[in-house]
Amino acid sequence: MQLIDEIKTKQNITEDQLVHLLTTEDETLLTSLKTTARAVADSVYGNQIFIRGLIEFTNYCKNDCYYCGIRRSNMQADRYRLTEDQILSCCQNGYDLGFRTFVLQGGEDPWYTDDKICAIVSRIRSSYPDCAITLSIGEKSEESYRRFFTAGADRYLLRHETADDEHYRKLHPAEMSLSHRKNCLRTLKRIGYQTGCGFMVGSPFQTMDSLYEDLMFILELQPEMVGIGPFIPHKDTPFADRPAGTLDRTLRLLSIIRLLHPHVLLPATTALGTIHPLGREMGIQAGANVVMPNLSPVDVRGKYLLYDNKICTGDEAAECRYCMQRRMEGIGYEVVTDRGDFR
Ligand code: SAM
Ligand code: FES
Repeated sequence: MQLIDEIKTKQNITEDQLVHLLTTEDETLLTSLKTTARAVADSVYGNQIFIRGLIEFTNYCKNDCYYCGIRRSNMQADRYRLTEDQILSCCQNGYDLGFRTFVLQGGEDPWYTDDKICAIVSRIRSSYPDCAITLSIGEKSEESYRRFFTAGADRYLLRHETADDEHYRKLHPAEMSLSHRKNCLRTLKRIGYQTGCGFMVGSPFQTMDSLYEDLMFILELQPEMVGIGPFIPHKDTPFADRPAGTLDRTLRLLSIIRLLHPHVLLPATTALGTIHPLGREMGIQAGANVVMPNLSPVDVRGKYLLYDNKICTGDEAAECRYCMQRRMEGIGYEVVTDRGDFR
């Protein structure tokens, strides 16, 4: 397939090519997109799938993103915070299950001062020197990012959400800005974090132009990780009545990102598993190479609800871990006990 080979070789795409790949119903072309993307992932990472243990440690947030179920204005959200000891016990449980990356994710919660975050990171670093520590706690100052890095954090996930200014303003209140978010991402890279950006597929007001901007931003930033998953409405947000992003478009975009940025660490997200029972398997088959089972304590699982109908909210960490392994083995892939760094 000439088009797919061209994108793969140039590691670049025109907007016309993107529109074509996202709208075509030519099954031969779509099969070629998927199998080529998967072959590229295989050539870099083989049949190994990296697992990250996700610890959702707070659902308090000072931001008010219109799409997000834990936004500050959602008075229905049942708020919680994990203590340092609870977080460390999630890590111990995860370590015993073979996780070598811990992802600490939360709303932007000022209760966790920089001192508190550094104390948590330092404790994880000294208890698990062979593990990677990923933070996903939003927009902070350069000084804060530097302190977390010095304390032992290796990676940082901060989805840019959309690289189109006008679109960004339709998803966020005026106090948030795309330029600030992009600057945070550039700062994170400069400090030396393995950095992840990303966006939701099918978020309200998303256009082909904005998706093209997203891809161009990925090419410019050259992040080590890209997180994409479908937008899914949450009933207590301003976007409650908006349609979810589709499985098909998410899979096509996963493949395109793999072709544009062959070495990227690309998760098949929980949101993808939420819109289709085999969404994560299909994500891997489309070129993803990471899955992020949940390590949060069961009693808070059902409270970190970014969107409706989230899966795995009642499961123990071990259940999720082995469920994921079975799912991956079922499609011929191997879940590995490895930090899973960018190659
Ligand atoms: N507060 C941190 C931040 O802003 O980066 C991390 C937590 S935030 C909830 C993690 C990601 O969840 C966001 O970057 C967003 O893309 C995703 N998300 C939020 N609401 C969502 C929804 N309704 N559907 C799908 N993904 C959503
Ligand atoms: Fe802050 Fe969603 S609005 S995590």
